Amino acid sequence: MKKINIGLFGFGCVGQGLYETLNNSKNFAGEIKKICIKNAEKSRSLPRRLFTIDKEEIIRDPEIDVIVELIDDANAALEIVTSSLKNGKSVVTANKKMVAENLEFLVKLQNETGKAILYEGAVCGSIPIIRTLEEYFGHEPLDEVKGIFNGSTNYILTKVFNENLDYDEALRQAQSLGFAESDPTLDVKGFDAKYKLSILLTHAFGIYVKPESIVNLGIDHLKNTDLEYAREKGFKVKLIAQARRIDDKVFAFVAPQFIGHNDSLSSIDNEFNAVSLTGDFCDEQLFIGKGAGSLPTGAAVLSDISALSYDYKYEYKKFYNLGQLPFSNESLLKV
Ligand code: HSE
Repeated sequence: MKKINIGLFGFGCVGQGLYETLNNSKNFAGEIKKICIKNAEKSRSLPRRLFTIDKEEIIRDPEIDVIVELIDDANAALEIVTSSLKNGKSVVTANKKMVAENLEFLVKLQNETGKAILYEGAVCGSIPIIRTLEEYFGHEPLDEVKGIFNGSTNYILTKVFNENLDYDEALRQAQSLGFAESDPTLDVKGFDAKYKLSILLTHAFGIYVKPESIVNLGIDHLKNTDLEYAREKGFKVKLIAQARRIDDKVFAFVAPQFIGHNDSLSSIDNEFNAVSLTGDFCDEQLFIGKGAGSLPTGAAVLSDISALSYDYKYEYKKFYNLGQLPFSNESLLKV
């Protein structure tokens, strides 16, 4: 395995998780050479010489092989990623909003520059779902991809539903445990789950669907009576991201749903995520793992960096000529 020199953008929750997983990894041959941060004054847990506020210093450093982008701002992230690929660096990012909103452009850029962009850490934390969709499924369009794609809302619903905790207190806990986005409305209103669903639509069905054309309803409008009613009827409430192929069209949305105890997603609690894939031949496959948090996401990012050492790239081979079904009550009923 060749040694990889990393230029890191951002040293928040996931950046620090990456640093820790990398330092404790026995097999990984690589190191973080420089970290670009926004605030030079903030006290850091690592020596000063590792940090810079000059992004060009990293992107133009000939000794840096891979740029890892872990900042919060999607527009700034897109600039970093574009400029890195154009400067001959491969990129790993965990920025789901940036990837979801620009995926078609990023695929073109990968093809033009010949440099890879990997983003396993952007979707469902530690679950290796993109590589699974890329590598394992390729012979038939799947029938359905659905699951719990947001750890914070699953954590909140678990605490409120199972332990009768107050919603605001559960949200505070999700924030202090490092699960929630810096703007937690992205979690509770279903945007975060929809960015992830939009990315999986490309890898599962071979279609580009902009996040704005996927309907998202969050958990913020759930009432206590909804939860009470679910409990009485023997259901749990989960925020589900779902994409279903109906003939040659795909229908996708994010919404809270009543989940029966026999459903494979029923036992997925706390910050765990799950992705359920259903195909004609394989029937249902369920992938479960920690979907949020510093170390699980850091581990997914590390796995992408490691994949670059053997020149791995997403191939985007699956294009089935499918269209998107607009959101309507009729199509919802079919799901
Ligand atoms: N805020 C996200 C979540 C973090 O709660 O799932 C991981 O993408």
